[in-house]
Amino acid sequence: MRRLSGAAFLLYLLIALLGPSNGADTLTLDHPLADGGEPLISEGGSFALGFFSPNGSDSRYIGIWYKKISVQTVVWVANRQRPVTGSHGSLSVAANGTLVITGENSTVVWSSPSLALSDPVAQLLNDGNLVVREADGNPSDPNSFAWQSFDYPTDTLLPGMKLGWNLTTGFNRTLTSWASASDPSPGEYTFGIDLRGDPQIFEWSGTSQVWRAGPWNGLRFTGVPQMTSYNMLSLQFFVDATQVIYVFYMIDPSFVSRLVVNQSGTLQRLVWVNDSKFWNAFWYAPMDPCDAIFPCGPNAVCDTSKSPLCGCPQGFQPKNPTNWGFRDGSDGCVRKTEVDCRNGTDGFVLVSGAKLPDTSSSTVEWVGTTLDQCKAKCLKNCSCTAYARANISGSGSGCILWSTNLTDLRVYGNGGQDLYVRVAAADLDSESSRHRIYLTVITVILALFILIMALVGCRVWRRKKRSRRTGMSGMATSFTERHNDEGTEAKDLDLPLFDLGTVADATGNFSMENKLGEGGFGPVYKGKLEDEQDIAVKRLSKTSVQGLDEFKNEVVLIAKLQHRNLVRLLGCCIEGEERMLIYEYMPNGSLDSFVFDKAKGWLLNWPTRYSIIVGIARGLLYLHQDSRLRIIHRDLKASNILLDMHMNPKISDFGMARIFGGDETEVNTKRVVGTYGYMSPEYAMDGIFSVKSDVFSFGVLVLEIISGKKNRGIYDSSRSLNLLGYTWSLWREGKGLDLVDEAIGDSYPKAEVLRCMKVGLLCVQERPEDRPTMSSVLFMLGSDSALLPQPRQPGFVAMRGPLEPDSSTSKQDSLSINNVSVTMFEGR
Ligand SMILES: *[C@@H]1O[C@H](CO)[C@@H](O)[C@H](O)[C@H]1NC(C)=O
Ligand SMILES: *[C@@H]1O[C@H](CO)[C@@H](O)[C@H](O)[C@H]1NC(C)=O
Ligand SMILES: *[C@@H]1O[C@H](CO)[C@@H](O)[C@H](O)[C@H]1NC(C)=O
Ligand SMILES: *[C@@H]1O[C@H](CO)[C@@H](O)[C@H](O)[C@H]1NC(C)=O
Ligand SMILES: *[C@@H]1O[C@H](CO)[C@@H](O)[C@H](O)[C@H]1NC(C)=O
Ligand SMILES: *[C@@H]1O[C@H](CO)[C@@H](O)[C@H](O)[C@H]1NC(C)=O
Ligand SMILES: *[C@@H]1O[C@H](CO)[C@@H](O)[C@H](O)[C@H]1NC(C)=O
Ligand SMILES: *[C@@H]1O[C@H](CO)[C@@H](O)[C@H](O)[C@H]1NC(C)=O
Ligand SMILES: *[C@@H]1O[C@H](CO)[C@@H](O)[C@H](O)[C@H]1NC(C)=O
Ligand SMILES: *[C@@H]1O[C@H](CO)[C@@H](O)[C@H](O)[C@H]1NC(C)=O
Ligand SMILES: *[C@@H]1O[C@H](CO)[C@@H](O)[C@H](O)[C@H]1NC(C)=O
Repeated sequence: MRRLSGAAFLLYLLIALLGPSNGADTLTLDHPLADGGEPLISEGGSFALGFFSPNGSDSRYIGIWYKKISVQTVVWVANRQRPVTGSHGSLSVAANGTLVITGENSTVVWSSPSLALSDPVAQLLNDGNLVVREADGNPSDPNSFAWQSFDYPTDTLLPGMKLGWNLTTGFNRTLTSWASASDPSPGEYTFGIDLRGDPQIFEWSGTSQVWRAGPWNGLRFTGVPQMTSYNMLSLQFFVDATQVIYVFYMIDPSFVSRLVVNQSGTLQRLVWVNDSKFWNAFWYAPMDPCDAIFPCGPNAVCDTSKSPLCGCPQGFQPKNPTNWGFRDGSDGCVRKTEVDCRNGTDGFVLVSGAKLPDTSSSTVEWVGTTLDQCKAKCLKNCSCTAYARANISGSGSGCILWSTNLTDLRVYGNGGQDLYVRVAAADLDSESSRHRIYLTVITVILALFILIMALVGCRVWRRKKRSRRTGMSGMATSFTERHNDEGTEAKDLDLPLFDLGTVADATGNFSMENKLGEGGFGPVYKGKLEDEQDIAVKRLSKTSVQGLDEFKNEVVLIAKLQHRNLVRLLGCCIEGEERMLIYEYMPNGSLDSFVFDKAKGWLLNWPTRYSIIVGIARGLLYLHQDSRLRIIHRDLKASNILLDMHMNPKISDFGMARIFGGDETEVNTKRVVGTYGYMSPEYAMDGIFSVKSDVFSFGVLVLEIISGKKNRGIYDSSRSLNLLGYTWSLWREGKGLDLVDEAIGDSYPKAEVLRCMKVGLLCVQERPEDRPTMSSVLFMLGSDSALLPQPRQPGFVAMRGPLEPDSSTSKQDSLSINNVSVTMFEGR
């Protein structure tokens, strides 16, 4: 044993004493980690490493978990198959760098592959990676790592962690689910990359395929069309001679996200938002019936928007029409006419919006092949059955050729790609002549459209010229321009302009005691005009740039809307830097201050609540259908419903609203705005919003009004369900009335309450196409409950987390006119 000099010994002692704060993220020869000791904490404080026991188990494991997240979430386990029994476990670095876990009597329980370092340290990095390197190595250089936990994923992929293959060594990294919540040993499901053909990501159960993400097409996996709208994540797939890997990074580091294969075989992307109390399932797969492997047989196309799901592409027919008659498409489709390759007369039919069929036996050329060359190549080869672009990014390039039956082919409403399927000339001709007719019709319509647009454009231009001559204010002109951008008819604003003096007088010079609250864009004041009319003034704060656009949006929109369930805009004030909106004053404030307040909830008896529900529905129907514009509110929530003297509800805050073109039905946006808890899954996850996303928010509101509870809280201690999940479980157990707010008392019409609840559940269904429109909602509110369809499972129920009281009642939540709306997943 080495002898320490006195000074060195003192230094050693000092280091040992300062240990936890000094070298708290490293293990050295002299500093093993004993069970019961302080865990290692990474330098930025994001991750911790130490001994833990899974819930329901006494076995001890070495794991890495998030330090800052209140729900203990283990992302990596060292000895997943070899737990330590008893409390004498210890993790140490051997003299050659090998990591060793010992149990009682220093028996070795687990060790990492053996290494040959001279002066090793093990360090927990702030990205959650445990690395072993030479003490003088550079912790930020991956090449200096002799071993790293990132190379041995368990069930979780963290940002920067690689999934896939090192082709030089044949080393592959896969995710494997835990066997159960109390047992981290490898479970049934694995997730990894299959190298055959065009490399694809698969989830397997044992050796059978569970789900196929498909090949990477330059932008995303062909089977994950949602990927395009992930603005907070950067997803990358590398294929070269040395490696085939998938890796993701956070663009916005204020979100925490991970990919995990859970024990029931679902691949989930979970997101932790700062103030949430549970992991939010942002995306998951398999998601729908077409995600199952082979719901439809060879050459068939699966389409969730069709019933039955399976169909045949042009030129194909069901192999066994009898089975297809019974909605069983598993036999697949066969060609109507065999292809005739000798003649070169075959052609291709386009399947658009496709998830490419299984590529494990296809051939791929990544670079330098245009689509035409690809087509020629396929025509020339007798065994070629289809082709597609390998890389759709940019102008597109590369080529995938199939020479087998096409399996696991499906189409998406949105986000798929083009697949060209070879068919015989005979099956093509009829199609192409029909095409020619379509083409002619389309050309004629287009020509007419252009003509009309030109005429309209001319008129608008003339009118604009006129208005400029008459000296219209700059602001109003810019409204008109903006409005033109929206593609609707330009119309001058006929909205009273208040001058700053009047507004200042009315609000006591914006005095504190007249302040009603602070909204997302600035403060809101109460005021009284000279004619005794009460007003509410929303004053845009000067610093808010984003607010200015929303201000303009609101003025343009609301000036055109008149309905007794919409708050009325009396005018606006634009002077210098000041921008203000003047509304009628709502003496009773906002709905949330009643519904969620135990002290005031009793003021809303059932008849009042019912009339509020119906009023909101009417207001929303007006926005969606009856007004001259088609408007999606996008931020419907309890704090945006104001109550007048007679408790009539009025929808307010059109800052986020969007006008829809006449025939658009849904729009995809990069910037998802709205309020957490009211956003529909397709909007929060994919940025797709439509009238059906408002319907979702309406459904949440209805359930909140009935229950007096916020959707954001967690209401079922054993299952950690949010309000939607809780309502759904009560509903299915036939105990719907347990949901009703105690403040309503006992004497309410049970049938009417249950009907409202059913309507609410119909509105929050996962799939937008299942949700009713507002006109059917109003119809259903007035009809017999038995005639309504049965709701399906709501979206966003699968939320897990600890039971915590709903603490989101902040000052701002109870404000009246305007409430803060979060901007989630904002693009760059
Ligand atoms: C175990 O369960 C409790 C409460 O149910 C929870 O707080 C804790 O985070 C769980 N631990 C793990 C490791 O899952
Ligand atoms: C550890 O050593 C003690 C004493 O030698 C012995 O009684 C005990 O059984 C040992 N435990 C294990 C797990 O080997
Ligand atoms: C490194 O140390 C471990 C534990 O002491 C031992 O099992 C392993 O054989 C050693 N490896 C080499 C290459 O010496
Ligand atoms: C593959 O593994 C070898 C040996 O560990 C390593 O030298 C090489 O850098 C790895 N290649 C890639 C692309 O990671
Ligand atoms: C990856 O390698 C592991 C062993 O390292 C093996 O069990 C697994 O089957 C491999 N996965 C694939 C997709 O080949
Ligand atoms: C989350 O909290 C951190 C620090 O507490 C902060 O830097 C970050 O901006 C927050 N993220 C969001 C989305 O609010
Ligand atoms: C796995 O994830 C799915 C989808 O989020 C969820 O429905 C299921 O309950 C999860 N399973 C477990 C065991 O957590
Ligand atoms: C080749 O095509 C012609 C029509 O272009 C057709 O009449 C002929 O039968 C085809 N030949 C074969 C061998 O199918
Ligand atoms: C035709 O395609 C098959 C399968 O992709 C391939 O094996 C064969 O070499 C190709 N033949 C020619 C002539 O290119
Ligand atoms: C796909 O094409 C884009 C643009 O041409 C290029 O930047 C990218 O590297 C290509 N991706 C692959 C995987 O070849
Ligand atoms: C396609 O499937 C049919 C049966 O459905 C089979 O007879 C045929 O050989 C298959 N073709 C190829 C190229 O695998």
